[in-house]
Amino acid sequence: MSEQHPSRHHRLLPFLLLISLSSAAQNHHQIQNPPPTIARFQQYLRISTAHPDPDYVSAINFLTNFSHSIPFLQSQNLYFTPERNKPLLLFTLPGSDPSLPSILLNSHLDSVPAEPSKWAHPPFSAHYSSDGKIFARGAQDDKCIGLQYLEAIKGLIEEKSFSPLRNIHISFVPDEEIGGFDGMAKFATSDEFKKLNVGFVLDEGQASPGDEYRVFYADRQPWHIVIKAVGMPGHGSRMFDNGAMENLMKSIEVITKFRDAEFDKVKAGLAANSEVISMNPVFLKAGIPSPTGFVMNMQPSEAEAGFDLRLPPTADPDAMRRRITEEWAPSWRNMTVEITAKGSLRDYRGRPLLTFTNDSNPWWSVFKQAVTSAGGKLGKPEILSSTTDARFMRQLGIPTIGFSPMKNTPILLHDHNEFLKDSVYLEGIKVYESVIKSLSSFTEPSSYHAQ
Ligand SMILES: *[C@@H]1O[C@H](CO)[C@@H](O)[C@H](O)[C@H]1NC(C)=O
Ligand SMILES: *[C@@H]1O[C@H](CO)[C@@H](O)[C@H](O)[C@H]1NC(C)=O
Ligand SMILES: *[C@@H]1O[C@H](CO)[C@@H](O)[C@H](O)[C@H]1NC(C)=O
Ligand SMILES: [Zn+2]
Repeated sequence: MSEQHPSRHHRLLPFLLLISLSSAAQNHHQIQNPPPTIARFQQYLRISTAHPDPDYVSAINFLTNFSHSIPFLQSQNLYFTPERNKPLLLFTLPGSDPSLPSILLNSHLDSVPAEPSKWAHPPFSAHYSSDGKIFARGAQDDKCIGLQYLEAIKGLIEEKSFSPLRNIHISFVPDEEIGGFDGMAKFATSDEFKKLNVGFVLDEGQASPGDEYRVFYADRQPWHIVIKAVGMPGHGSRMFDNGAMENLMKSIEVITKFRDAEFDKVKAGLAANSEVISMNPVFLKAGIPSPTGFVMNMQPSEAEAGFDLRLPPTADPDAMRRRITEEWAPSWRNMTVEITAKGSLRDYRGRPLLTFTNDSNPWWSVFKQAVTSAGGKLGKPEILSSTTDARFMRQLGIPTIGFSPMKNTPILLHDHNEFLKDSVYLEGIKVYESVIKSLSSFTEPSSYHAQ
C-alpha cells in the first residue's frame, strides 16, 4: 500500500501544501478494503479497553472468536477478583513434550485513556490512512503484540504445519496500565500459573525510532519519599537556627547534589537515563495559610517535601535506604522520612530483578538468533525507565524480555495520535514466527532456572 504514495502525493501536492499548514496529520484518506490481517488488527483496536472503563468482555470475545480459526489452540478465561469483572484470557498450544518448561507470550488488554479532541482521527476508529498508518489508542501499547502472537502461530500452523516441542501459552491480562495488581500480579502467584511451568516470557517493549529493535531486560522500580521537618516556629523577622524550613532546605541541598551526580553520568554519556537513580521533587508543603495565600511574617513549625525516585535493579536498596535516613532526613536534624517502595529490586531469592542478556541465559541466545535469522537486529539491551507486568515474572526468577517489534517507528505510547504502520506490524508477525518456532523447539535447558 505504501508504494503507491509518491504518485498520489505528487498529484495532490499543491493541495497538501495548503492544508498541511493547519492539520498536518489529516492529509491521507482512509484505506477501505484492508487485507484480513490488518482488518483484524483494526477490529481489536476499535474495542475500547481504555481506562477507567475498559470493555474487557468484548476484547475477549473478539480474541476467542479469532482463536477458533487457529487449529489446536485451547483457550480459558481466568478470574482473580470476586466480582469476576477483570477476566484474563489464556491460550495454550500444546507441545509434543509438555514436561519441558513452557514459553509465555504476554500482552495486556487495557490501554490508557485518549483525549479525542487532541487526535487527528478518533482514537478508537483505527483509521487506516493511505500511507499505511493505523491510528488508535493501543496500536503500539500493546494490542499490536497480542494479536501478532496469535497471527504468528496461525501462520506457522497453516503454512508450515508447525508442531511445537514445548507448550506455548499466550496471555491477555487486564489492568497493566493501573499497576497490574488485579491482573498479572494475581495471575503470577496463582496455582494456574504454577501449573504452566513457565521457563521464559516475552512481554511488551517499546517502539524504536531507529533500525534496531529495542529489548528490555529490567524495569526501574519507583520509590515515593516524603520527608518531614519540624522546628521552632518564629517571627518572620528573626534569624535563628533549626527552623523546620531551614532544616528542610538543608536536606534539599543534599538531595540536589545526589540528583546532579546521577544526572551528570547521563549527560556525560556514561549511563542511559534508565540506568541511573532518577530523583525528582514532586511536592513541597509548608507555610501557614491566610485568606490571600500565606502568612508572610511567620516561620512555620512543619515543612514537608515529596520525591519520586526510580531505582534500577543494579542499585543497592539497603545502601539507598541508609543514605536517605542518614543524609537526606537525619533524625538529629529533627526530620522523619517515609519511604514507600512500589516494587522490589530483588527477586524471591534475593537476586537483582533482571534477566541476563548474555550466553549464560540460553533462552536469550535462542531469542536473539531467531530475531537475526528473521532479518532483524537487536539494539543494546536496555532497562525500561518505567515499569511493566514483566516485574511479576522476574520476581519469580523467570527470565523475561520486553520486546515489541516496532522499528523505524516514533515512540507514541500514551501519546496523542498513537499509530503503527501496516508494514511494521506485518514484519513483526514474521519476527514472532521465527522467535516462537525457535523458542518452542529447542531442547537445551529443561533445568535452566533463571540465572
Ligand atoms: C468470528 O470469526 C469469524 C472468522 O473466523 C468471522 O468471520 C466473524 O466475523 C467473527 N465474528 C465476530 C463477532 O467477530
Ligand atoms: C530538634 O528539636 C529539639 C527539640 O525541639 C531542639 O532542641 C533541637 O535544637 C532541634 N535540633 C535541630 C538540629 O533542629
Ligand atoms: C552474564 O551477565 C551477568 C550480568 O551482567 C554477569 O554477572 C555474568 O557473569 C555474565 N555471564 C557470562 C557468561 O557472560
Ligand atoms: Zn503497555
